[in-house]
Amino acid sequence: MRETLKNSSAIRKMFIEGQKLAEKVGAENVFDFSLGNPVAPVPQAFTDALMDVIRSEDSLALHGYMNNAGYPEVRKAVADSLNRRFDLGLTGENIVMTVGAAGAINIVLRAILDIGDQVVAFRPYFGEYRNYVANWRGEIVEVAPRLPSFQPDLEDFGRKVGPRTKAVIINNPVNPSGVAYSAETLTSIAGILKEKQKEYGHEIYLISDEPYRELAYDGVDIPYVTKFYANTFVAYSFSKTLSIPGERIGYLVISPEMEQWQEMANAISVSNRICGYVNAPSLLQKAVARCLDEKCDVAFYDNNRKLLWGGLTELGFECVKPEGTFYLFVKSPEPDEQAFVARAKAHNLILVAGSTFAMPGYVRIAYCVSPDTIRRSLPRFRELAAEYGLNG
Ligand SMILES: Cc1ncc(COP(=O)(O)O)c(C=O)c1O
Repeated sequence: MRETLKNSSAIRKMFIEGQKLAEKVGAENVFDFSLGNPVAPVPQAFTDALMDVIRSEDSLALHGYMNNAGYPEVRKAVADSLNRRFDLGLTGENIVMTVGAAGAINIVLRAILDIGDQVVAFRPYFGEYRNYVANWRGEIVEVAPRLPSFQPDLEDFGRKVGPRTKAVIINNPVNPSGVAYSAETLTSIAGILKEKQKEYGHEIYLISDEPYRELAYDGVDIPYVTKFYANTFVAYSFSKTLSIPGERIGYLVISPEMEQWQEMANAISVSNRICGYVNAPSLLQKAVARCLDEKCDVAFYDNNRKLLWGGLTELGFECVKPEGTFYLFVKSPEPDEQAFVARAKAHNLILVAGSTFAMPGYVRIAYCVSPDTIRRSLPRFRELAAEYGLNG
């Protein structure tokens, strides 16, 4: 763990620095854009569902052990809801309830990776993927983005998928860039993977990490990946949709198009157990099953997005317009983004260095803060822009 500790979360580090700064200058004067902790209110329907479950269910059954994949009726409710929305042909057997998206990704990797297998990820990516892949002694292989769009460079992707590639992980929409992958992009990714499977004569799995699926703006469509490629898993989480990341609840979809998907579903279920999760929290399973169509106030984040993206680009900062998530990925005005992060901190602006996301030269700004924080931060960003002589 010593190596892991050395590179451990730069996001947390910035959050702690923000807290220290708040002690010195007062919390109201610190603009902390470090953490992806949701701030849109938890939907009342979720709180009501929790209370209702506690009051109405038999308590021993509710709090007892269960099938490692989750309650059958909850898995069926998830499958029915996905079928209604995306027309997928899923049954409850294709669903495993998980300890968030993080749990879902780990149990898949546990099930499919042999030591030394490669997992391809598209830069910039959620830095925890490095740790998740390392957990199971895999090796991460990075694909470059096309700039300034931050869409994947598909030629580089084709080059990076090799004989040791066991899986490819995508995140749609993307933390940290906020871009969304279109049906066309997914078709191309699937096309390349189909060819590579043939060429190397073994399965290559696509893992689509989708905790931000519901946080998409301007009517942008996040296509359902199982429609594009048979060997697909989708990791979903209620952390962001319902603003409940501490509750640790999500699910994994195992595509019914996958050959021997039942065997895979069994493997994943055992994986859930032996990774130590055992099963997703029982109360939470029952509660989310009652509000599968609920979501937090997405307009709240959209408003923040417009306010901050508009404000920063007007000041001369370069930033791809995000179509989803609650992050902006801004080009550092100097090559060393760590130096930029330090200069921003001198203006009480807490940002996260892009190297955390395998993308030096950029910084991530999490706009899951109050609109008032954004409004009050803009004069600070103006001072920062002026230091770099940007044309605001
Ligand atoms: C891209 C991405 N994947 C996975 C996760 C983990 O989500 P969960 O809280 O559902 O485990 C996060 C959390 O921030 C994330 O940003």
